[in-house]
Amino acid sequence: MSGSTEEHAWEREHVWHPYAAMPNPNPVYQVASANGVYLTLDNGQQVIDGMSSWWSAIHGYNVPELNQAIEKQLKDMAHVMFGGLTHQPAIDLAKTLIDITPNNLQHVFFVDSGSVAVETALKMALQYWQGQHNDQKTKFLSLTHAYHGDTFGAMSVCDPENSMHHLYKGLLPTHIFVPPNIQDLRTAFARHHQKLAAMIVEPIVQGAGGMLFYDAEVLAEIRKLCDEYDVLLIADEIATGFGRTGKLFACEHADITPDILCLGKALTGGYMTLAAVLTDPKISQGIQKQDNILMHGPTFMANPLACAVAKASIDLLLASDWQKRIQTIETQLKQGLLPCLSSDKVADVRVMGAIGVVEMKEAMDIPSIQADLIEQGVWLRPFGKLLYTMPPFIIEDNELEKIISAIVSLT
Ligand SMILES: Cc1ncc(COP(=O)(O)O)c(C=O)c1O
Repeated sequence: MSGSTEEHAWEREHVWHPYAAMPNPNPVYQVASANGVYLTLDNGQQVIDGMSSWWSAIHGYNVPELNQAIEKQLKDMAHVMFGGLTHQPAIDLAKTLIDITPNNLQHVFFVDSGSVAVETALKMALQYWQGQHNDQKTKFLSLTHAYHGDTFGAMSVCDPENSMHHLYKGLLPTHIFVPPNIQDLRTAFARHHQKLAAMIVEPIVQGAGGMLFYDAEVLAEIRKLCDEYDVLLIADEIATGFGRTGKLFACEHADITPDILCLGKALTGGYMTLAAVLTDPKISQGIQKQDNILMHGPTFMANPLACAVAKASIDLLLASDWQKRIQTIETQLKQGLLPCLSSDKVADVRVMGAIGVVEMKEAMDIPSIQADLIEQGVWLRPFGKLLYTMPPFIIEDNELEKIISAIVSLT
């Protein structure tokens, strides 16, 4: 579709977008192509992508190494089922993931999206306790402002105040929520541990639930409490994994290892949908105790094209000077955004790694702000009171400056 006025009108009438009304949705912008950090709209305008397509396109777009990996794999096979079959791209990617994550994580389960990775992790934890003949441990402990995805299990561990819980009241499983501070965590573990299968956390950075950061000591304490009270720890690094916070994985800020780790988003460099759940053998063996097996197996599990591009993306990241690059982005974001604190309209400014957040005091008129940003040559997707950027790591200083100036102009 080349984007004539009639076609735009047709799209508005028929094609549903994320978290959008239907009919009468907010405007969407048609992208004709993407290259480097630029999206080219169908009217020819180029905008710098400050969102990395929801945290995923860490190398930008149209990346020769990633294109090649897909083209090469395509000649062998686009897809085969993973039930009873295996293939080299899955083996190579699993080896790489085991190599770059903590030593205790030795088993890899591939799924097709972040939310499904979270579903699988929750099921693993529940099935683990079933294997131990423990029918008490059926609840999850999660953080206030948590976001773990949009499917039912994942929604049930999202912050009840700040998510879709109200729409599904009485239909979602109920779990326990605690703010990320040491005293409240200790109280929650002491009170609820007997019924807790696992605690699930977004390590250090809470994304879609408010773009909030919490201290590494809190994460270290969570690991300690999980050990003390025999509760499993699930780290959801779907948003934070692959360098975004300045460490390859955010758990490294607290030097902790989870029992179950969820990866997604930047796993494929934003090229295809793929996620992975890694576990300690204690979990996989525990599930099997009563001759049970993990009851999960999506049709497109371990899609070969996605595995091949994921492996290429990780290789590309590790071969680059990504730590230095992210440090430079962090410094520039701090220098550019922290002065916004002097504006009466701004409640807070937070920067960590390649994440820059300006929290306004009032909720924003998103469609009009987005139109303004597009006019300034920048693509961002603010929500609520939050204006934020997570640019591709390859962004040049002058391009990041353009994003920063656009954000500053709105404060
Ligand atoms: C921390 C976290 N977990 C899970 C998800 C869900 O991933 P997906 O959108 O691929 O289902 C997201 C998506 O934003 C996320 O940020």
